[in-house]
Amino acid sequence: MTTAPRHAIDALFLEERTYPPSLEFATQANARPDIYERDWEELWEAEGRERVSWFKPFDKLYEWEPPYAKWYLGGKLNVCFNCVDRHVEAGNGENVAYHWEGEPEGETRTITFADLQRDVVRFANALKKLGVEKGTPVGIYMGMVPELPVAMLACARLGAPHTVVFGGFSADSLSGRLNDMECEILITQDEGWRRGSTVPLKKNADEALAASPGVKRAVVLRRTRSDVAIEDGRDVWWHEIVEGESDDPSSCPCEEMDSEDLLYLLYTSGTTAKPKGIVHTTAGYLVGVATTHHYIFDVKPDSVYWCAADIGWVTGHSYIVYGPLCNGTTGVLYEGTPDFPDKDRWWSIVERYGVDILYTAPTAIRAHMKWGPEHAEKHDLSSLRLLGSVGEPINPEAWMWYREHIGGGRTPVVDTWWQTETGMILITPLPGVTTLKPGSATKPFPGVLPAVLDEEGNDVGPGGGGYLVLKRPWPAMLRGIHNDHERYVETYWSRYEGLYFAGDGAKLDEDGDFWLLGRVDDVMNVSGHRISTIEVESALVDHQSVAEAAVCGRNDPQTGQAIVAYVTLKGGDEGDVEKLEELRNHVAKKIGPIAKPANIVFTPELPKTRSGKIMRRLLRDVAEKRELGDTTTLADPTVVEELQERASTERED
Ligand code: WTA
Repeated sequence: MTTAPRHAIDALFLEERTYPPSLEFATQANARPDIYERDWEELWEAEGRERVSWFKPFDKLYEWEPPYAKWYLGGKLNVCFNCVDRHVEAGNGENVAYHWEGEPEGETRTITFADLQRDVVRFANALKKLGVEKGTPVGIYMGMVPELPVAMLACARLGAPHTVVFGGFSADSLSGRLNDMECEILITQDEGWRRGSTVPLKKNADEALAASPGVKRAVVLRRTRSDVAIEDGRDVWWHEIVEGESDDPSSCPCEEMDSEDLLYLLYTSGTTAKPKGIVHTTAGYLVGVATTHHYIFDVKPDSVYWCAADIGWVTGHSYIVYGPLCNGTTGVLYEGTPDFPDKDRWWSIVERYGVDILYTAPTAIRAHMKWGPEHAEKHDLSSLRLLGSVGEPINPEAWMWYREHIGGGRTPVVDTWWQTETGMILITPLPGVTTLKPGSATKPFPGVLPAVLDEEGNDVGPGGGGYLVLKRPWPAMLRGIHNDHERYVETYWSRYEGLYFAGDGAKLDEDGDFWLLGRVDDVMNVSGHRISTIEVESALVDHQSVAEAAVCGRNDPQTGQAIVAYVTLKGGDEGDVEKLEELRNHVAKKIGPIAKPANIVFTPELPKTRSGKIMRRLLRDVAEKRELGDTTTLADPTVVEELQERASTERED
């Protein structure tokens, strides 16, 4: 497959379509134009007081000692109380929290807030018996089953910080995270469902636990009922430990947490092989995600809101679990893939539950585009009122397709920019207020202060391109990297003094709207998932036959970026198709199937500078099949010519 390079900036200049809000939407919207005029401190003060319930109100809005912020100082609260108990106490226990749909057809569950409370209380009581208490770190490795949010909320109830590890990650990735957080308990399941086959979660967990001696107990949920090994003294079945436990909330009161107590760590790829444990705390995070969820998604009391991400990523944490539940919203939770058993599965879900808000990633939208609009046309999608996008830049064609074929040409599309680190959406249209432009994330959320800077730190101004920074703290911002102050400072705060460096390129247009241009560091974005080049390189070099490896991303019409690896084998081995497959599988085993290179080019030599640095820029040029940039610093110019030749004859998946 050859892909013409996408000239993001050129394409953006051509994009002139605008969509002002309809009067109909504007007159009923949660956000009104005056929200942009509010004083930012007053806004977060008011949201902090009104949107969440406190055991003890906060006495100071925030404290900013760069690079660390604290929010809602002195406040005491509990996230589980806010997401579950208070809705039941307010008489809304019979409202649906989640419509859950398993991947095998016909398998559904309706979970009300009262059900959720009972499930959480019983499980939290059981966790207590396993020794979980305030401060106990808990790992969670599950698929998209209702018990996943139950496990997260039970931890929050007890004040036990969690780390959720995406079910697509390998045993190695899991144990790395469990060890870094020093988890004492792991919650997992026998297997997960994915596109009609199963994912061996417990088997992976067993492998991970062999390398995670700190984890003393594992709780195993029965999902597919397949036979899995149960280690006596370590593993317990979920259904057995909850048996006989009380589901009365007074049997397990919500722990009183400080605003700045740790809620969770979520690991994300950076520019080194070791994932970073991003720290999110209690109050600022909750206020941030609930407030943005309310205004950006225009959620109403009778909404049926569906964020089709996986809870294992930050999008799921903030906009499937914590934000929506805090707002008492009814959500959809779907276990499987969009094309199982057929390519209209999503649209059948939208129709059956009357989904009015759908939030997904460009990579999914492009997959649906490829499959064709006929699958959506089989279903009545008239319940949809609003569409959202997240995870990568959305190309204008995909934006238009989404609005036309899914939104019936009526619905606003909100393109929301944010990161694991930011915790909440920071750049986004407000539906009913903002004039939309296909491909632009438009404006900062009220109170957020981004800028686009050049290398020297000057504002580029309208029409300019540069690096995206944030100039002011926001409630849900990360509180650091777990156990790594140096790396926190180095990654986010050293490029520009006192400013948060996001690692994304951006462009401002004449109206001051933001256009995101993708990563500027060695992080690739494959199907909306961040993977660092060095992580994949380390996995490759870990293989006994590999001498050296360099990895880069190239544009891919479907997944945003695809991974290309250049590999030098030991002993002058030339490599063949079998070796290629072996290496791809090795990466899948070390990191997870999402990190499998789409293509591996074997080469006797990598292009290096005279000082021995691999010239990744040239590798990207080769991967994109475009003309090479400056090659004068190369130690041996013939190496790239040879590479270009090899790359053009290489097979691809
Ligand atoms: C990219 C996902 C363009 C960006 C919430 C960011 C986006 C990284 C957008 C964070 C968007 C996310 N437009 N790019 N609307 N949203 N990104 O941590 O490169 O998985 O830095 O968080 O995804 O990915 P993460």
